[in-house]
Amino acid sequence: MEKQAKRLTVPGFSALKSAGRKITMLTAYDYTMAQLLDDAGIDGILVGDSMSMVVQGRETTLSVTLDEMIYHAEMVARAVKHALVIVDMPFATYEVGVHQAIANAGRILKETNGQAVKLEGGADQADTIAGLVAAGIPVMAHVGLRPQSVHQMGGYKVQRDETRLLDDAAAAQQAGAFGVVLECVPAPIAAKISASLEIPTIGIGAGSECDGQVLVTHDMLGLTRGDVPRFVKPYADLRSVITDAVSRYCEETRAGTFPGEDQTYTR
Ligand code: KIV
Repeated sequence: MEKQAKRLTVPGFSALKSAGRKITMLTAYDYTMAQLLDDAGIDGILVGDSMSMVVQGRETTLSVTLDEMIYHAEMVARAVKHALVIVDMPFATYEVGVHQAIANAGRILKETNGQAVKLEGGADQADTIAGLVAAGIPVMAHVGLRPQSVHQMGGYKVQRDETRLLDDAAAAQQAGAFGVVLECVPAPIAAKISASLEIPTIGIGAGSECDGQVLVTHDMLGLTRGDVPRFVKPYADLRSVITDAVSRYCEETRAGTFPGEDQTYTR
């Protein structure tokens, strides 16, 4: 196995908050993208279950399997030299109880070389978080909009129950989580949660006062077709870049101008 002495550690990741440095996170699902993000200096790479929608073209995150997450997370972790690699636990791989969660999260750490898992929940998953942490498995919690509960929540909606959000985040910290994702939370509530916790909050649609930010990489690079959530800032328009390159390749191949002299072995 390759040495990974320089990879950011879980305590190092959490310490960025006390050092007053905003934390950067993005998703990756394969070797090439993970290498690009890592080379660009990202702090954390999330192998998100958003893979179900982004890579597999499904409607929700619910159907991605543990084996599929492990297959992709292994490629990501192999590419990464500096960032902390966090892997999502898919729907119904931790809710049955602590034993199920440890068995499945244990597989993720053993088989992927990722350093931590993320699961959706706060107060409702406190026992599971505590059990995983006691087993030596670092956990990032995910509160606010929980996409794995989309059917129960009635859609992808901003979450405004301040008491519940504060309780969930506090329960996750109390149970030993090293960080917490806040998804689709009004900025003033996210700011209050961030100020009340020692562990970092990582916002997605939760305003600028979170301790860090995460986005789905395909969304922020303009690779996603159709609408993206309001909280996504388009940092690039890679769909246009790729479509243009492929169109020119097709045109030149059809016209017989590709391959040219430079791309041809003459003997
Ligand atoms: O699966 C994912 O990409 C996520 C982020 C949206 C936080 O959980």
